[in-house]
Amino acid sequence: MPDYLIPGTLRNTLDQQRRLFDFSPTTDLFLKTEVENTFLDKGYLIKNNISNEFEAISVAYEILSGLREKQLFYSKFLSQVQLSKGDLIPVCDPFIEGGFQALHFDYGLPLIGSNEAQYEPFDMFSVLYYPCNIKPFSGAVTRLVTLQNLHIKVDLDETVIESRIDNYVKHHGDGWLHPEPYNTKRISIYARVLDAVLDLKQFEAKIDCHSQNFFFPEETMASWELTDKQLEMEYEFYKDSGIDLHQIEKRIILQPGQLLFIDNMRTIHGRLGFRRKKEIWQFLFGLERSSPELIQKTKEFIIKSISRK
Ligand SMILES: [Fe+2]
Repeated sequence: MPDYLIPGTLRNTLDQQRRLFDFSPTTDLFLKTEVENTFLDKGYLIKNNISNEFEAISVAYEILSGLREKQLFYSKFLSQVQLSKGDLIPVCDPFIEGGFQALHFDYGLPLIGSNEAQYEPFDMFSVLYYPCNIKPFSGAVTRLVTLQNLHIKVDLDETVIESRIDNYVKHHGDGWLHPEPYNTKRISIYARVLDAVLDLKQFEAKIDCHSQNFFFPEETMASWELTDKQLEMEYEFYKDSGIDLHQIEKRIILQPGQLLFIDNMRTIHGRLGFRRKKEIWQFLFGLERSSPELIQKTKEFIIKSISRK
């Protein structure tokens, strides 16, 4: 797979925990890979035998180019998509990182087309690439849930769902309190979307809680016991919301040389198990500036998947 379209400046800027829009090309430069139709249903796909991170970036761009042929609610935005971030993760050691991640959208999805949102990136796709020569193999599990399979058995009108999401994001969107309170108008942890839609008010205050200790923040020690406890609590929360994660969660153990391409608007993901520090590449692809139209379309997709009978 040719990677000659990846500029030298971009290669030299990877793994610096910074945005890459100034260095990365758009999808129209790349040949298209035929995207299998299963991606349309599942929201993720796997590619094998990728020899390094530059080839992984090329392959992801070719998938994006191939996606332009498909009918998806975000199709018209694909020509503007760029690599926006590329880092080896986790950045901290496993003891700090923990062995669990709650189901989430990477970097949070903007759900209100506010003025500020238009100056912030929209991370549409998340790509994990497991390098070939990694040793020892951690065997951490990536958990994936396709939103199309995640609907709630409650009779709520779509306009009610939308106003509940809007209200929640407006007052309790992801953000921080110090030094000044700031609301990004995004939601990352999907349990907060359910909290909004079902009007549970359970997680309104968790605006800056990380995915690794979202359900059980009291405990700080990273351990397998805590990992199991968090998973159990997440499953219980979803069950109380009418969703049986056992039925719909897919688990993948990425092997060396494999790439997992995740649609960050139609799929939520999490993790089970400890990764070694900087074990895997995470690439994000998206728009440098969020489009209010894309924000609205993404929110409508989420609402439709929730209310689907
Ligand atoms: Fe993630």
